[in-house]
Amino acid sequence: MGTQIRSMVSLLLMFFLILTVPVRAQRTPTETPTTKFTFRGFIGNQSEILTTGAATIKTDGLLRLTDRSSNVVGTAFYHKPVRLLETNGNSTNATVRSFSTSFVFVIIPSSSNDGGYGFTFTLSPTPNRPGAESEQYMGLLSAENNGDLTNHVFAVEFDTVQGFKDTVQGFKDGADGIGNHIGINFNSLASEVQEPVGYYDNNAPDREEDFQLQSGKPIQAFLDYDGPTQTLNFTVYPASLKSRPIKPLISQLPVQNLSQIVQEEMYVGFTAATGRDKSSAHYVMGWSFSSGGDGPIAETLELSELPRAPPNTAKNRGYNSQVLALIVALSGVTVILLALLFFFVIYKKRLQQEEILEDWEIDHPHRFQYKDLYSATDGFKENRIVGTGGFGTVFRGKISSSSSDQIAVKKITPNSMQGVREFVAEIESLGKLSHKNLVNLRGWCKHKNDLLLIYDYIPNGSLDSLLYSKPRQSGAVLSWNARFQIAKGIASGLLYLHEEWEQIVVHRDVKPSNVLIDDDMNPRLGDFGLARLHERGSLSYTTVVVGTIGYMAPELSRKGKSSSASDVFAFGVLLLEIVSGRRPTDSGTFFLADWVMELHANGEILTAVDPRLGSCYDVGEVKLALVVGLLCCHQRPSSRPSMRMVLRYMNGDEDVPEIDDSDWGCSNSSRSEFGSKIEGYVSSEKGSSSIASFSVTRDSSSSVISGR
Ligand SMILES: *[C@@H]1O[C@H](CO)[C@@H](O)[C@H](O)[C@H]1NC(C)=O
Ligand SMILES: *[C@@H]1O[C@H](CO)[C@@H](O)[C@H](O)[C@H]1NC(C)=O
Ligand SMILES: *[C@@H]1O[C@H](CO)[C@@H](O)[C@H](O)[C@H]1NC(C)=O
Ligand SMILES: *[C@@H]1O[C@H](CO)[C@@H](O)[C@H](O)[C@H]1NC(C)=O
Ligand SMILES: *[C@@H]1O[C@H](CO)[C@@H](O)[C@H](O)[C@H]1NC(C)=O
Repeated sequence: MGTQIRSMVSLLLMFFLILTVPVRAQRTPTETPTTKFTFRGFIGNQSEILTTGAATIKTDGLLRLTDRSSNVVGTAFYHKPVRLLETNGNSTNATVRSFSTSFVFVIIPSSSNDGGYGFTFTLSPTPNRPGAESEQYMGLLSAENNGDLTNHVFAVEFDTVQGFKDTVQGFKDGADGIGNHIGINFNSLASEVQEPVGYYDNNAPDREEDFQLQSGKPIQAFLDYDGPTQTLNFTVYPASLKSRPIKPLISQLPVQNLSQIVQEEMYVGFTAATGRDKSSAHYVMGWSFSSGGDGPIAETLELSELPRAPPNTAKNRGYNSQVLALIVALSGVTVILLALLFFFVIYKKRLQQEEILEDWEIDHPHRFQYKDLYSATDGFKENRIVGTGGFGTVFRGKISSSSSDQIAVKKITPNSMQGVREFVAEIESLGKLSHKNLVNLRGWCKHKNDLLLIYDYIPNGSLDSLLYSKPRQSGAVLSWNARFQIAKGIASGLLYLHEEWEQIVVHRDVKPSNVLIDDDMNPRLGDFGLARLHERGSLSYTTVVVGTIGYMAPELSRKGKSSSASDVFAFGVLLLEIVSGRRPTDSGTFFLADWVMELHANGEILTAVDPRLGSCYDVGEVKLALVVGLLCCHQRPSSRPSMRMVLRYMNGDEDVPEIDDSDWGCSNSSRSEFGSKIEGYVSSEKGSSSIASFSVTRDSSSSVISGR
């Protein structure tokens, strides 16, 4: 048994010797050994590649030098040393043998700006780099040994970080250190030669095409060293190019020093490192190497023969691809929704401003466009409201850029649009009215269920506010002079409506809030909303009583008749109000006209004067105004003076007749009848009760039309 084993062992030893002797023989200097290998992917070649640190061969065949962890190093060397020195028995006179290598690599940065730090192709005396550091040392050297002549390291660096060498003392390419460059290094990371990454197009060899190392796409590199001429060629280009660029990026670089660096046996391979903030995954997809012989040429690596390139997931920092996809999808949906919303809002706005014109609306000179009014009033904003009256809301607006050209837009929502066509016809003609005591009606606009009336804007507010609100707020009592002028102005305006224009216009709603005061304290009668056109001398018959309680003549409640005489009644009440500073009625127990009449009968009419005036008034004028007011308030319409007479009295052109107490007085019964009858029409608005109505009977409106 023992001898058998011994002879078996010796037999095995014999075989071993037979096998190994030729290998040893190859190592003799005379027979120049060659090294030649090609890795098209690294599957099954784990034993031929020695990896350290973060480097690993992945199951898909890719050699990954580092992943994107921060501050890692990785090295990968061919497991056997390569003889690169030609000594011919005399080591002092050695030359470096020719070699050629090619590899395809991919650098995937963690984000487009934050890749780092790069990798090297290295000739090293050892198949690893003990003590090598990360970041700018690229897993090749360390702060201690950087630049030492004893390193015996030659490297081509693929550097993706800009200017990092500024921070490291003694690095000679510090100042102009650029990112994305190739460096040729001897014993040091300070490059002997540096070139920005690029290639020369075969079709236009004079032009250098730049490209990014950390593009996430496969890039091919060639390094050829020619021993006899001691020169080096280097080429790098995107592997997607159809053919290798003929002109190298670095050509015929003389490297005599290489012989001082290269030792007899050198390991070839790669080192790579990432940084703290900047990191990339560095992959080698394939690698071929050839040395020895005359002009060795490393085998070409066809992209199609290599394993699939790693997926390029370099996107915005920190997000993985799923989160990123989700973000992209969500933001896409959001953008679409916002766009839809935007268009919807625009559409709605358009719709709001859109005008649907009926035929009759088209050629009226006083028609305004809704969109102009819309922009003039800032979209009928609440802060543009200057008043809310019996008929609707009044907005202040600016029709042109000049600040003086202001308008008041009265927005009315009638109960029905039935009579609007006829009403507009009236307005068209009312637009021609022009008198210094009338608010100028500029035009109108119909929009959906709204009717908009455009007037001149009168800044001082209404007589109502001057009589009541202003004194309350600031104690500014309207002087007697002003009151008398205002009263005369109103009378003059009414006279114009009743007699001086081509048609009789009954105002129908004379009251302080419808009298606007302009800058010159000149009164202007406004709100023609209730005015009806009359043919001269005729009366209109309406089904709805219009007016304001306290100013409505008694015959209105009984017969619904509205005439210039009922305007005179209202003016009488207004006149008494101007003098006394008291509202015409308070919830049915006090009636201004009755009260003044009583005082008149008792011979103490001056008691009626507004106590806030003190004694600052003209007794004659006051008495005149009160008596004229009483005359106007006569129960019988026919007994009231015309506006022409009223104005003559007030101007002192005519003596005021005596008031017949017995004839003037009205029975309480008629007044209570009035009160009960009016209830159904009353709508209470902001202190004054108005009956707001546009409904016009067909009869009355057609009579208006036919009257023209
Ligand atoms: C790599 O491994 C494959 C399969 O094991 C083998 O065929 C090939 O020769 C190896 N390549 C090198 C360069 O060793
Ligand atoms: C080696 O070469 C040098 C000069 O090239 C010479 O001086 C030296 O003698 C040689 N040594 C041997 C052992 O041949
Ligand atoms: C050694 O150097 C000498 C002179 O420099 C040269 O002629 C000779 O060929 C060299 N020897 C070898 C082996 O290269
Ligand atoms: C280096 O490139 C030049 C062209 O620029 C070429 O003539 C030469 O043969 C190349 N050398 C090697 C070793 O590839
Ligand atoms: C390379 O050789 C030159 C002179 O030939 C010398 O000045 C330089 O320091 C050498 N460089 C290295 C890295 O050995």
